[in-house]
Amino acid sequence: QPVAVTLRAAAQFPFGAALNPNLLTSNNAYRQVAQQEYSSITAENYLKMENVHPAQDRYDWTGSDVLVAFAEQNKQRMHGHTLVWHQAVPAWVTNFKGDSLAWEALFKTHIQTVIAHYKDRLASFDVVNEAFGDDGTLRPSVWLTHLGPDYVARAFQYAREASPGVKLFYNEYGHEYSPKRLAATVALAADFKKRGIPIDGLGLQMHTNIGQSDAAIQNAIQQVAATGLLVHISELDVRVNQAKQANYVLTDADKLAQRQKFAAIVRAYKTLVPKAQQHGITTWNIGDGDSWIPNFCSCQDFPLPFDKQYARKPAYDGILDGL
Ligand code: XIL
Repeated sequence: QPVAVTLRAAAQFPFGAALNPNLLTSNNAYRQVAQQEYSSITAENYLKMENVHPAQDRYDWTGSDVLVAFAEQNKQRMHGHTLVWHQAVPAWVTNFKGDSLAWEALFKTHIQTVIAHYKDRLASFDVVNEAFGDDGTLRPSVWLTHLGPDYVARAFQYAREASPGVKLFYNEYGHEYSPKRLAATVALAADFKKRGIPIDGLGLQMHTNIGQSDAAIQNAIQQVAATGLLVHISELDVRVNQAKQANYVLTDADKLAQRQKFAAIVRAYKTLVPKAQQHGITTWNIGDGDSWIPNFCSCQDFPLPFDKQYARKPAYDGILDGL
């Protein structure tokens, strides 16, 4: 059923969602909303190392192939997520035994194989995800242990070398509530610029909630935009169940607060990020039934613009309000 207004038609910049290829092939309502509403798609899980590179000598493109083909059919931009992360590391890497040269080869081969596979069919890629801890220094990870602190910069160099046409992003969370993570992200951009390390953009995940202040969100967006790099709100969702209750009943007040929070975020992005730096806004999947949040918080929540049946929520209107 065609609809009069859609996010992709209303937005002056790419408006996207992270998608799950299994739902795309099994659920008609999901597929239809995915087609109609979005001009950009992110792979929620299927370009992560444990899925795409399950054994040292084996890559599995099954899930990502579905997403890339879907995006092309529907004239949607495709954003890759993610080459290097402390999570989703496959067992063969955790158990890998080798000297620093062998680790470096493993790292470089993974990055270059994955980013070069689809060439420019992917417009952009989160090269490194969540490298910083709460204190703003590099968090412990298998990469930091075996490659040393400059692994982040080398990941970007390897990615650029293999696939010069793809825009390279550093993706992080917490900018809107953690001054240290915000400062670390901005400092990374400055350091890369000084050293000539290739980077095109910064991703603010923006997994947030109705209690987060608009001022802090605006400050984060404004500071990241001041780097001059592209800015992607890359994983947007807005939780309502702040006490993380197991059984939570969504109230009318929540629905209104969620609408206002989506509107405030979209409006801040639109007004504070110069047009030439607007890589777009992406929500982390489509409907409340698809969200990663209940698993993550072990609680019930309703953080997305569509409900479980893929009907538009007041949060959806909030996005339109902000656009
Ligand atoms: C999450 C996915 O949504 C889940 O399906 C998966 O089980 C775990 O990862 N930050 C990120 C994303 O950068 O990759 C995470 O995605 C959510 C938090």
